[in-house]
Amino acid sequence: MARHLITSAIPYINGIKHLGNLVGSQLPADLFARYQRARGHEVMFICATDEHGTPAELAAAKAGKPVAEYCAEMHDIQATIAKGFRLSFDHFGRSSSARNHALTQYFARTLGEQGLVAEVTEKQVYSVDDGRFLPDRYIEGTCPNCGYDRARGDQCENCTKQLDPTDLINPRSAISGSTRLEVRDTKHLYLRQRSLKGDLESWIDSKSDWPILTTSIAKKWLNDGEGLQDRGITRDLHWGVPAQFDGAPWSGMEGKVFYVWFDAPIEYIAATAEWADATGQADDAWQRWWRTDKGAGDVTYTEFMGKDNVPFHTLSFPATILGANRAGGAQWKLVDYIKSFNYLNYDGGQFSTSQGRGVFMDQALSILPADYWRWWLLSHAPESSDSEFTWENFQAGVNKDLADVLGNFVSRITKFCRSKFGEEIPAAGSYGDQERALIADLTTRIRAYEAAMEAMEVRKAAAELRAIWVSGNEYLQSAAPWTVFKTDPDRAAAQTRLSLNLVRLYAVLSSPFIPDASQKMLEGMRTEDQAWPDDVEAALAALPAGHAFTTPEVLFAKITDEEREEWQGRFSGIRT
Ligand code: 2FM
Ligand code: ZN
Repeated sequence: MARHLITSAIPYINGIKHLGNLVGSQLPADLFARYQRARGHEVMFICATDEHGTPAELAAAKAGKPVAEYCAEMHDIQATIAKGFRLSFDHFGRSSSARNHALTQYFARTLGEQGLVAEVTEKQVYSVDDGRFLPDRYIEGTCPNCGYDRARGDQCENCTKQLDPTDLINPRSAISGSTRLEVRDTKHLYLRQRSLKGDLESWIDSKSDWPILTTSIAKKWLNDGEGLQDRGITRDLHWGVPAQFDGAPWSGMEGKVFYVWFDAPIEYIAATAEWADATGQADDAWQRWWRTDKGAGDVTYTEFMGKDNVPFHTLSFPATILGANRAGGAQWKLVDYIKSFNYLNYDGGQFSTSQGRGVFMDQALSILPADYWRWWLLSHAPESSDSEFTWENFQAGVNKDLADVLGNFVSRITKFCRSKFGEEIPAAGSYGDQERALIADLTTRIRAYEAAMEAMEVRKAAAELRAIWVSGNEYLQSAAPWTVFKTDPDRAAAQTRLSLNLVRLYAVLSSPFIPDASQKMLEGMRTEDQAWPDDVEAALAALPAGHAFTTPEVLFAKITDEEREEWQGRFSGIRT
């Protein structure tokens, strides 16, 4: 049994996420976690809300609420929606937790002890009208790298370049829009990433199996301009992890907090500690996932994220880990594989949280159950390039794959059996060439499906699964037990026995994609046997002759043209 540590990028607390966010990290991470569990492996699947920094402060101010209250409420909302999408986190933590405060301060102190943190007096943008410094998202302007005119002070959304607020051209305050900005001196802690460049470079070079998207972004910023820059890890903000440790402020850092991107990835670790706390376990329980000196040596750690998050996960967070490991005490786990995604676009434009454009997770669940979305989004995951959500495409995908292929197969065979043999697996007849050919075909396809899942090739895995459903459908179509029954009822019984066993097989194979429908299929087949089909022939004998079943209700309803048009209109505007 292997051990898989899986993290999804932790969504900002500043509102409900859209389907583009979902397909870029949480959903494929869930697919992988469910698959590895289905294969019998030990999985720790972690996500959390990213509650610090300017996104949280700005959103709370907009909602007119104290930031702590806003975060607590929004965390519960995001947790409920995640459940609605059947995201199977072992723990959905909060980056504002006491565990994350302690770990963030611990990492900063350890890095400091290694001479990797410098105190720097720097020039920061100060807004005269707002009476405060404007870190990160408090400031907007034009990206010096690509010219995008709504780049934020921490990063350009368009070209993924990490920025400092002073880099922006034509800067303005995101609070008031004021351009009465001055540059003033302020003191901050810097992580001396430059002195870790060699370590980072050889580590990235050792990852020859990483997706091109991940490696190309990592190398781009590793060698950008003069190369990797030291990064400020503190901010002039109130909400966040205080820049102090063991109760004593870092000299001159009173009233400052760590930068959100310093503490957010540490929350992956902290959330695992929160999980141990929540389940009444001691520190060993989470440390065996994260500390190679405490048993995490055999853990495979995979991270899922959108491409804009890649620089932080290939450079900044590993710099924290590599630097802290130099201390020689606790040895923290570095990521083994980073699966990153391009963007999903919405109907000819971009999904946008700030502009309220697209379909948001709560809205999606209000019109259709999770499986419809899970299937379409995963089978169209933006892996090799950006992809696009259109209502026509969504309707076509759902109707064809889920209703016509899978749903139809299940309904046809269960209803046929009920009408001719009753609601139990028929005993008569034996398998012939057609069944042997189907078993051989399914064996090849299931091995291909497994290979795609292991490689996290999400679209390919979806295509293989669809092909597996199609095989069964084609078999049923050509075997035609409804015709055979008239002349050779025993043969029709054998065909039906095999097909009903296929329903269970499909439930098992499909559960990472469409967990609710899989559950319904298993319930219909009145079985809890979810054994993975290592041996397809044996798997197709799992439900023995005489085993009773219940004809399930319709698995997937088709999306009508009227519905599609109505939703298209409803979600064409801006969410306020
Ligand atoms: O892009 C985002 O939504 C960030 N909140 C992701 C943070 S991932 C991590 F580092 F924790
Ligand atoms: Zn840019």
